[in-house]
Amino acid sequence: MKLSKQSLFLALILAGGVALAGGATDPDVKARQELMAANGAAMKTLGGMASAKIAFDAAAAEAAKQVLVANAAGTLEVFKNQASDPAAHANASIWTAWDDFAAKASDMGKAAQDLDTTTAEGIAAGLGAIGGTCKACHTAYKAS
Ligand code: HEC
Repeated sequence: MKLSKQSLFLALILAGGVALAGGATDPDVKARQELMAANGAAMKTLGGMASAKIAFDAAAAEAAKQVLVANAAGTLEVFKNQASDPAAHANASIWTAWDDFAAKASDMGKAAQDLDTTTAEGIAAGLGAIGGTCKACHTAYKAS
């Protein structure tokens, strides 16, 4: 099969996936939206297993957990510059209430760390706590 330039471009976009999250062009904004999109993907994997929509896979569950643990720590790095972009949804108060923002990222890391990924039931039991930490930060610092 001969790929046209257009379909090749499309294939690259699909392969890039999270790289296009949010549609921002500013590199700092892109980086933080990519990190958040990866959080969303990890939660989707875990939520799918918790609700038996996708088959339980201990290795994949643990990998998703580790993405969340790493991203909670990485959140401060990708948000440290107060960059803006028309496609950004970050409240400016992040940078005036940095300690609270950091504490909310840390809460997410702790909840993710506590997740038992050895069974689907374990995931189901701990997922709500993680989701609560996402929501707490979004309510305070994410513009809709
Ligand atoms: C410490 C704060 C904080 C935590 C914790 C947090 N988020 Fe976010 N999230 C944000 C902010 C701020 C934005 C908006 C970023 C922007 O557009 O500039 C955002 C954006 C997003 C987006 C949209 C990304 C895009 O493509 O534009 C998704 C999806 C998301 N978060 C998922 C999650 C999930 C899932 C969790 C929990 C596992 C989580 N977030 C935890 C602050 C947080």
